[in-house]
Amino acid sequence: MLSAQDNELLTRVGPGTPMGELLRRYWTPALLISEVPTPDSDPVRVRLLGEDLVAFRDTNGRVGLIQENCPHRGASLYFGRNEECGLRCPYHGWKFDADGACVDMPSEPPNSVFKDKVTAKAYPTHESGGIVWTYMGPADKMTPFRDFGTESLEPDQVAATKLNTPCNWVQAMEGNLDTSHISWLHQWDGVDDIPDDGSDKPGYPSNAMSWKFWRHDRAPRLEIEDTWYGFKYVGIRDTPNGHKHVRMSAFCFPYNTVIASVPFSTGHGLFVPIDDHNTWRYSFSTRVNPGLQEVGGTNLFALSPFEFGPAEVGRNGIIPRRYTAENDYGIDRAEQRNVTYSGVREFISQDFMVTESMGPIYDRTQERLGTSDKAIIRMRRLLMAAAKSVAEGGEPPAVAPDLDYRSIRSAEKILEPGEDWRVLGTSDDPMVQKYDAGNSRVPVAGS
Ligand code: FES
Ligand SMILES: [Fe+2]
Repeated sequence: MLSAQDNELLTRVGPGTPMGELLRRYWTPALLISEVPTPDSDPVRVRLLGEDLVAFRDTNGRVGLIQENCPHRGASLYFGRNEECGLRCPYHGWKFDADGACVDMPSEPPNSVFKDKVTAKAYPTHESGGIVWTYMGPADKMTPFRDFGTESLEPDQVAATKLNTPCNWVQAMEGNLDTSHISWLHQWDGVDDIPDDGSDKPGYPSNAMSWKFWRHDRAPRLEIEDTWYGFKYVGIRDTPNGHKHVRMSAFCFPYNTVIASVPFSTGHGLFVPIDDHNTWRYSFSTRVNPGLQEVGGTNLFALSPFEFGPAEVGRNGIIPRRYTAENDYGIDRAEQRNVTYSGVREFISQDFMVTESMGPIYDRTQERLGTSDKAIIRMRRLLMAAAKSVAEGGEPPAVAPDLDYRSIRSAEKILEPGEDWRVLGTSDDPMVQKYDAGNSRVPVAGS
């Protein structure tokens, strides 16, 4: 439970709010590169942290991100003409470049110097991993761009998507950091019938067996370790054969999650606030994501009644939502009674159903937290403490240039007797070493 005051502190992101000012100290996804694909392509509306902006790729290929409303009399520059290295307002022809400078003011006399006094608010941009990132904080406090593994990707390895979820970013992120719900929300009855494929033993289970473990032990024990980037934690479950199965996920300031995967993962899910009531859920590929290829075993996707992954991705990289609150997320009550726990067929819509149904900003004075909510509690505390610290002149966490942001990994494994979960996903983990050896393009710091 949070006080009403803390709930406001945690969730509000507009300019001048403590959390909004904390988030503005990190490079933030503003849009997908595929939304502004070519020089002089169509401008795009961008609402980010409660600010209305417009993005455009200029004639030289630079991406500008400037205030949406024209500094003259406020017409939307979204309707502007993207031409000759600038965005020209449709109303009176004032033109702004990617830095927000007014470079032409044709409605004023030719000898006027007024244009030199007019600027549009503009934020710097950096393209990486299929995403246009921006920094919206004070210029003199600009932090370095953090390379989570996207900077050295080959063009054919770049993949980024985003999905809209109409609720506050914190409750959306809480859904991703909540390991206990996979024993419930994402279950179906046939899991019990999946035959043991032999991977219920120390080592890496098949994904199908993981699903069995989630269902077998539905009250995981959580252990957390604070790290330089935030924290990592495990949900510990007993397997049918009496082993300890752990799912380890990571939280990285301010809205990054790296979710457990067999054998480990470096893929991020980012919960980027559009405003207080709406969120973009971004994901991007990184240098290594071993995924299923390492483990084999029973093919979960052939057995499951769920629809996984996007059925389609728009040409601009945005995944359309087929199931929303308007159609009750496609819930089928007969299926809920007889086949699946949720009655919702599309996997990610199961998550959206629960996090969006809390309302635009959940009133956390009403909640009752248990031991399985430990990771969520830690995330909230870290974020609120960092927001307060920055408001008092402190530095935001996890922005230093000498940190290896590529080393943030999740993992999933059945532990050997005596094995410490804290080693999983680190450069001391033999599985990580094996992949890094085969991925010499990007050396791991310290190795
Ligand atoms: S409102 Fe944009 S040029 Fe006048
Ligand atoms: Fe989920």
